Amino acid sequence: MNYIKDQKDLVGKIVLLRLDLNVPIKNGKITDETRISKILPVFKHLFEKKTKIIVISHLGRPKGERNADLTLKPICESLKKKLNKKVKLITENIFELNKSNLFVNSEDEILFLENIRFYKEEEKNDNNFSKHLASLGDIFVNDAFSCSHRAHSSVCAITKFLPSFAGLQLETEINALKRVTSEIKKPITCIIGGSKISSKISVIKNLIPKFDNIIFVGGMANNVLKYNGHSIGISIQEDDSETIIEDIFKLSKKHSCSIIFPEDVIVGKNLEGDAKIKELNEISNDDLILDIGPKTIKKIIDIIESSRTILWNGPAGYFENPHFAKGSFEIGKKIAEKNKLNEIFSVAGGGDTVALLNDIGIFNSFNFVSTAGGAFLEYLEGKELPGIKALN
Ligand code: 3PG
Ligand code: MG
Repeated sequence: MNYIKDQKDLVGKIVLLRLDLNVPIKNGKITDETRISKILPVFKHLFEKKTKIIVISHLGRPKGERNADLTLKPICESLKKKLNKKVKLITENIFELNKSNLFVNSEDEILFLENIRFYKEEEKNDNNFSKHLASLGDIFVNDAFSCSHRAHSSVCAITKFLPSFAGLQLETEINALKRVTSEIKKPITCIIGGSKISSKISVIKNLIPKFDNIIFVGGMANNVLKYNGHSIGISIQEDDSETIIEDIFKLSKKHSCSIIFPEDVIVGKNLEGDAKIKELNEISNDDLILDIGPKTIKKIIDIIESSRTILWNGPAGYFENPHFAKGSFEIGKKIAEKNKLNEIFSVAGGGDTVALLNDIGIFNSFNFVSTAGGAFLEYLEGKELPGIKALN
């Protein structure tokens, strides 16, 4: 892998910089800026080398359509403030851009392309689209470890058309995760929650042989509850996951890995509403499961107590509403407490998990916090991520 930090003679070059600025946004306001703050070093480095920069990022999952709610405008504004530089959002159709109509104003140093997932070609890892993107710059830098598990045009195929380098944050994340996986101490517990069920559920099978306990919380747990015959009301779930879950239980027996899932839950009628504790047999058809219940919290706390390593991706509930935050808060507080006593090694990852740790004020109580969620889990699986492979 070639690293941007080792490159000389970059003066005047146009760098296509892939970042993951997929930050949580509520009512047009960014609720957690960690992913933006973490990538400032690569800008500093590129300014010192006197390059020009075209930022490429995505936000959410617009599925190839323009969507005003998923504009990168607020992120562009935030970046402008943090860098104290002019950052120009380019909203024109990418296919109408070419090298000669960019950076026409000599003061322009940073151009920021509108959400790359507004183009259906992005998620198809499309050669023509990537080639066109590549034609806008001189070199490519991937500083988006957290979307390097996606074989998408601006992460993978683009590397076929330009000299390509690893960014500073990507390097930091990989080095930290390498250290974590080589020095890991048993018993190892992995807590998996959040709402992106489809990306994660298939990863779990490969994690089972490596871990002693896998705890399902959040949206991830709903499918297990359903598999076990419980009603989950109108809670989020992944269709057709029965076979995967069956495999998960079979494999866990074979490898003596305990699978833990909620014994009770907190439900609401909507995201904004009040909370009610329910046993699993009390969940009604119009209930939304939005947090784990007190018995489940107690069980998880006990498992954390007896673990030496904790890996955590994905909140236990909809913590954005304080009524549904207790599960995530109690898990976080317990890990932080054990960490302070030097009794466990703890690593957390993911956009929402990072926001949660900041909310509780325990970001610095973890040994390492990765900005990556899905990529973090796939890295733990031992897979070479497509975006990293493309750089090699
Ligand atoms: C993330 O938030 O994990 C990355 O930005 C990837 O997003 P995705 O799951 O929508 O591909
Ligand atoms: Mg995310």
